[in-house]
Amino acid sequence: MIYADNAATTKMSRTAVDAMLPFMEEVFGNPSSLYAAGQRAAEALQSARERVAACIGASPKEITFTSGGSEADNQAILSAAQMGARQGKTHIVSTAFEHHAVLHTLKKLEGQGFEVELLPVGPLGTVTSRQVEQAIRPNTCLVTVMYANNEIGSVLPVGEIGAVCREKRVLFHTDAVQAAGHLPIDTAGQSIDLLSLSAHKFHGPKGVGALYVRQGVPLASLIEGGAQERGKRAGTENVPGIMGMAAALEEACAHMEENTLRVSALRDRLIEGLCNIPHCALNGDPVNRLPGNVNFCFEGIEGESLLLLLDDRGICASSGSACTSGALDPSHVLLAIGRPHEVAHGSLRLSLCETNTDQDVDAILKAVPEIVDYLRGMSPLWKDKISGKKAFVL
Ligand SMILES: Cc1ncc(COP(=O)(O)O)c(C=O)c1O
Repeated sequence: MIYADNAATTKMSRTAVDAMLPFMEEVFGNPSSLYAAGQRAAEALQSARERVAACIGASPKEITFTSGGSEADNQAILSAAQMGARQGKTHIVSTAFEHHAVLHTLKKLEGQGFEVELLPVGPLGTVTSRQVEQAIRPNTCLVTVMYANNEIGSVLPVGEIGAVCREKRVLFHTDAVQAAGHLPIDTAGQSIDLLSLSAHKFHGPKGVGALYVRQGVPLASLIEGGAQERGKRAGTENVPGIMGMAAALEEACAHMEENTLRVSALRDRLIEGLCNIPHCALNGDPVNRLPGNVNFCFEGIEGESLLLLLDDRGICASSGSACTSGALDPSHVLLAIGRPHEVAHGSLRLSLCETNTDQDVDAILKAVPEIVDYLRGMSPLWKDKISGKKAFVL
């Protein structure tokens, strides 16, 4: 199998698995228990908090463990909104191509009377700090802009946006789920107030993540119950998962430079090869993108058919037009960067990691053009385009 869907999830690293096992088999105590077996778990939890904090330029007190990126996004946004409402500030700035964990939370807030402004995204998949600056009003309580986009891989100018927000005294949250472990993060230096991350995107386990909250920013709890996580996130901590996350993040950060070099070379070779397919377009910024992200639109095909045929050849990839709701809606991200519906349907995302090889890239570069050709050969729409009855878009 060739796994090229690392933006969806990653295989756990040996380091992460090894870090988890003792906390399932031996040190299984509840960290809230006062006896020694519980306290050993509590000490491990504290060390994991210190290690996660160190990887993002934070202090341990600023880390709250969550069940993943979605929970961290929800808690960050709802906390900032709650605080804003208390001060009569009900305007929130975000972008049109955030993950649904952000967009659906904002939709919920709209239903509660908040005014949400989604900044338009440029053709290369970015927003500028100038756009953010112009959108901020006296009643803005939160700016939430992702660090890197999960579909098209574009990396946003988070440091510049943070600086604008700090100057305007508006809270700044960034969904760094796709960036953590892959791009350097410095919460203090980048003036970030709230940041979400998720372990399964950097070879850690699924169902565990963290929310960074700058000291002094009040956090509201989503889950009521015990006093875990300083009363901000009830529920017995997922100690094995948290240990796996800390180990995976440390490993990813320690090898970031060499991984970036290796993975971006594979990415660039894939992009160069796929560009030779006629009537295609690369989605996202050709330069300023995640090391492993490749995303193309191929005119005249359906992304789902391409995925299924790639799967037949043992290649795991993803398409933007995920039919999550049963309806085949094209990706909101591709629409946000200006791709027409027809073209957005024919998208393919390949996301690589450091264990992918040159042979994987060779196999993908052989399979994709053949499958695109085959699918176009069966398409009546494509025949109309070839014969000149209909115009090409790309
Ligand atoms: C940008 C982004 N935000 C949030 C999430 C949600 O993370 P989780 O799966 O840990 O809930 C994802 C996962 O795909 C993501 O890519």
